[in-house]
Amino acid sequence: MADLSVQVDGLRLPNPFVIGSGPPGTNANVIGKAFDEGWGAVICKTVSLDASKVVNVAPRYARMRANQTKEVIGWQNIELISDRAFDVWEDEFKQIKDKYPDRVLIASIMEEYNKDAWVEIVERCQACGVDGFELNFSCPHGMPERKMGAAMGQDVELLEEVCQWVSGAATIPVWAKMTPNITHIVDPARAALQGGCQGIAAINTILSVMGIDLETLRPEPTVEGYSVPGGYSCKAVRPIALRMVMELATMMYGSDAEPGEFPDRSLSAIGGVESGEHAAQFILLGASTVQVCTGVMIHGYKMISRMCDELSAFMDKHEFTTIEDFRGHSLQYFTTHADLVNRQLEAKAAQKAARDGMVTKDTAWEGDKFVEQSNKLVSNDD
Ligand SMILES: Cc1cc2nc3c(=O)[nH]c(=O)nc-3n(C[C@H](O)[C@H](O)[C@H](O)COP(=O)(O)O)c2cc1C
Repeated sequence: MADLSVQVDGLRLPNPFVIGSGPPGTNANVIGKAFDEGWGAVICKTVSLDASKVVNVAPRYARMRANQTKEVIGWQNIELISDRAFDVWEDEFKQIKDKYPDRVLIASIMEEYNKDAWVEIVERCQACGVDGFELNFSCPHGMPERKMGAAMGQDVELLEEVCQWVSGAATIPVWAKMTPNITHIVDPARAALQGGCQGIAAINTILSVMGIDLETLRPEPTVEGYSVPGGYSCKAVRPIALRMVMELATMMYGSDAEPGEFPDRSLSAIGGVESGEHAAQFILLGASTVQVCTGVMIHGYKMISRMCDELSAFMDKHEFTTIEDFRGHSLQYFTTHADLVNRQLEAKAAQKAARDGMVTKDTAWEGDKFVEQSNKLVSNDD
């Protein structure tokens, strides 16, 4: 029977499935529900010291469905970080840790470019007993207007400095959550790890315009007739998340070509996960934990037991006993395009030789066909 438990940055999780920051971790009530259903850890909705600046609109979601099945495959949101007062969050962090002392609660935090604010939020969350931090450098809408979220995550120097402030104040593990809205995701990740973070989480949502209503000619989601680009998530983003996690893991853990730059740091994968098989793919690319946000909004908290069963079945099939047995296994199969071309040429040459009955390895010589095989290897017959 597969052991799904994970030990990461000194935290012990019963399974690698983590509630990703967003509505599924937005207050003590729903966080409790996640723990009751068996989620490995919860990352709360992103909190900040001054929630009065956070004003949400409604509607703030738009969905993309598959033509035939009507299944939801893409989800756009223009939701901001938590609009709940920080002192309420402090009470709730304490309540949750009192009720679930052995479960992992990670505070997602975001502040402006101000050292005192970052140090204060770190110290106040820590005092409530949370187990780790995720730094939201990745929210694509609303907050960048205040140079927060993705705006900070796209500025490598700023990001490294903030990570240094946080790492200086934090006594618990710190993960930096990356924005995918950047050309080279490894650059900010490297800066965050140089700045002292223990791990990287990726990805947040992808900047998007969901569509235009062809009756009203207005973009969606429409608020008083207007809209803004939002963040895209759900199944449709998974291939992009897999690619970015692969790039991050290659930089951190290395490849045949180059050694890794941060072999001891952790990677938490996010983007379009709705099954144990999806999670297995991210773990095969180096992730220790796998976060789910939109999937919970579609399927509910109980999806965790199905996902654990699916991941267990995958592990049993391949005789993997622990998550570490296969973490990062598939990274070795990425190479350059030139190498693909060479491999294909070699494979074709070997196939042709086999078709022509030519001996290409000494083990292929056969006593009954020895003369025939020798003749086939002769290039001229003068
Ligand atoms: C409605 C909604 C709200 C979100 N709010 C936050 C947030 O407050 N902080 C954060 O770091 N990420 C937030 N996210 C991003 C998710 O945590 C996650 O990175 C992204 O949605 C991709 O994963 P998924 O496909 O499993 O949803 C939000 C996503 C959604 C859909």
